[in-house]
Amino acid sequence: MKSLIVLAGMMGCGKSTAGELLSKKIGYEFIDIDKELEKSENMSVTNIFNEYGEKYFRKIEKLKIFEYVNRKNIVMALGGGAFEDEETRKILKQHGVVIYLKATPECIFQRIKSEIHRPLLRKNFSVDSIAFILKKRVNNYEKAHYTVDTCGKTPDDVVDKIMRIIK
Ligand code: S3P
Repeated sequence: MKSLIVLAGMMGCGKSTAGELLSKKIGYEFIDIDKELEKSENMSVTNIFNEYGEKYFRKIEKLKIFEYVNRKNIVMALGGGAFEDEETRKILKQHGVVIYLKATPECIFQRIKSEIHRPLLRKNFSVDSIAFILKKRVNNYEKAHYTVDTCGKTPDDVVDKIMRIIK
């Protein structure tokens, strides 16, 4: 089994939930890149966006990912936009196995409609706005090594599927 397992995909596709569960099952450390950024910046992701802008967020997000690529026995949940960066895709694919957790805009909407902390969706939160972002990103998400469908699946189902892929 690879010592770096990376979960990519849109916000609300279940990366953090599945990632944490998977890490416990295989005895790896779980690293949620958003959470790590919040710790090192001592600020929420929303506040980083508000105070310093998306460009700054993308820069520190990339640096944070690079900080972990050589660590052993890690399950890493990316933020939804992290896999847009070409160099990031390349290094993650070289060092680990990358799994795209796929979900439809409707399914994502249902999962995150009660959450308000996602800066990219704060102004216009709808199935259409999620579909708009997904359409721009899907080509890159599909560059992951594997895809796992998460719609209508429990976190346990998703993790079982991932475990069959990575074993
Ligand atoms: C983002 C997704 C968020 C977070 C930031 C930007 C995106 O992470 O990194 O708000 O660009 O899709 P999650 O995918 O964990 O929600």
